[in-house]
Amino acid sequence: MGATLAQAAPGPVAAPKAPEGERKAEPNASHPSPADQPGATAHPVIRTQSDAFYRPTVHFSPESGFMNDPNGLIFDNGVFHLYYQFDPFSPYAGHVHWGHATSPDLLVWQDQPIALNETKDGEAFTGCAVLDVRNSSGLFPEGKSGLVALYTRATPKKQTQFLAISEDDGQSFRDIPHNPVLDIGSNSFRDPKVFFHIPTGQWVMVVAKARLHQIAFYASIDLQHWVHLSDFGPSGLFGVDYECPNLIEIPVEGGGSRWVLFISVNPGGPTGGSITQYFVGSFDGSHFTPDDTVIGLTDFAKDAYALQVYENMPGTQAVSIAWLGNWQYCQELPTQSWRGCMTLPRLMTLRHDSSGWLRLAQAPRGLETLREAPVSFTCRRLAAGASASVQLPLGAALELTLSATVDQMPPNLPLGDKGRTGRFVIVFGNDMGESLTIGFDAFSGQLWIDRADLNGFKQPFFTGQFSTPLNPDDRHFDIRLVLDACTLEVFANGGLSVGTALLFPANPLTFLKLEATGTGASIETLGLYRLKKVMPRQTAL
Ligand code: FRU
Repeated sequence: MGATLAQAAPGPVAAPKAPEGERKAEPNASHPSPADQPGATAHPVIRTQSDAFYRPTVHFSPESGFMNDPNGLIFDNGVFHLYYQFDPFSPYAGHVHWGHATSPDLLVWQDQPIALNETKDGEAFTGCAVLDVRNSSGLFPEGKSGLVALYTRATPKKQTQFLAISEDDGQSFRDIPHNPVLDIGSNSFRDPKVFFHIPTGQWVMVVAKARLHQIAFYASIDLQHWVHLSDFGPSGLFGVDYECPNLIEIPVEGGGSRWVLFISVNPGGPTGGSITQYFVGSFDGSHFTPDDTVIGLTDFAKDAYALQVYENMPGTQAVSIAWLGNWQYCQELPTQSWRGCMTLPRLMTLRHDSSGWLRLAQAPRGLETLREAPVSFTCRRLAAGASASVQLPLGAALELTLSATVDQMPPNLPLGDKGRTGRFVIVFGNDMGESLTIGFDAFSGQLWIDRADLNGFKQPFFTGQFSTPLNPDDRHFDIRLVLDACTLEVFANGGLSVGTALLFPANPLTFLKLEATGTGASIETLGLYRLKKVMPRQTAL
């Protein structure tokens, strides 16, 4: 019996071999690329009213064409760079270039010329930028530093890692002659993110072996020669592809820091389609070791994907931007000349939640600077069944901050009424019967977003409701939300629960109403602000 048991004991588990070479389709076939169909780019760009109506005023979106992942996020010489996956020719994914914008503060963006082209070597897929301070690559003139991009060149047959240098402060990148710098003969190997690991004095790359559901770690001293260190995964969600890994040390509120590995998974997210998962752990320069078997999700809704962290930030700030979209419907959204936006920049910390778990907390970075005079709206107390409302300024992004405590559960509730009784509901609506609600169910401690009663876009995967637990046994909640044309970002529980959702009302949302159902509520803080328009685009007003 002992022998049998010994034979059956699990040894190291070999990853199954993915049928990499056999696929005929696109390298990332989990999202089709209509723009690659013959003729798709021959149509003229049509501008419609919806292009302006749904255009955000404080979120970055491309003037025209299709945008997905943020790329090459780096702060250099007082300038924040945002490169992005970009099809300049049509509002569909394909013919991927790196679009580019710059900002002094991550909020006010200025368009720049395309920084990397699609070439005969393939499309310019996702990647990163680093500042080669000491010219460790030897690619710059002696004593000079410069920006280096490491990214994936993709063809249907191959995905390899390319290196390009910039000699004009990030305005454009030029591929070095002896590319690729990393080729493992795979067509699902992409999205390198590189940083300098100070304790080991080397550059470290995290890169996705997409279909194998693994993140590979490589090291280099010159950014050109890469040595394999380790592989992480599969871990957490399987999904179809692992994409866009990021590894960063994030401060823990109250002291210390931990390493966090972000992995975007598509499709296969629990809310459908694209999702970003994260692991909290340690990194010794070659291996990432998670602290536990818990996975975190950066979002409880479904429109924040391909998160990338900023490189070269001053101090220990961890700042990220994600694509505000989902591969399930991003190419069908009801705009015609442009598709795709980015989330607001988010400051990330780690915080112990009410149960003691270390979790990611996110907050919009610097947004207060865009606040205009507050919209006058006072409400301290809502009796059971009461509501209070205010007309909304039209055509502007809005920020709402609110914290409230729902009264104790009334005694002698009818059977089954517990759930319906203690809800605090934030309604953005109009007289055409459309509404967006964000609600707190006090006696189960959960928050929801409901976009189902907006009529501008219907598609099977464009699901309506999302929810998250807040603190168990706590009738208090706090929320900060930004509503900006087709985007909603909800930061609840001090940013421990974040929900990002695209929204397509058919008509403007004209009022905000706060409601207490069944049980009264006391409102401790309430702020409603119009945000200053910073995107130089044609918008609703
Ligand atoms: C993630 C992704 C990446 C790829 C890029 C292509 O959204 O699929 O894996 O590099 O988009 O645009």
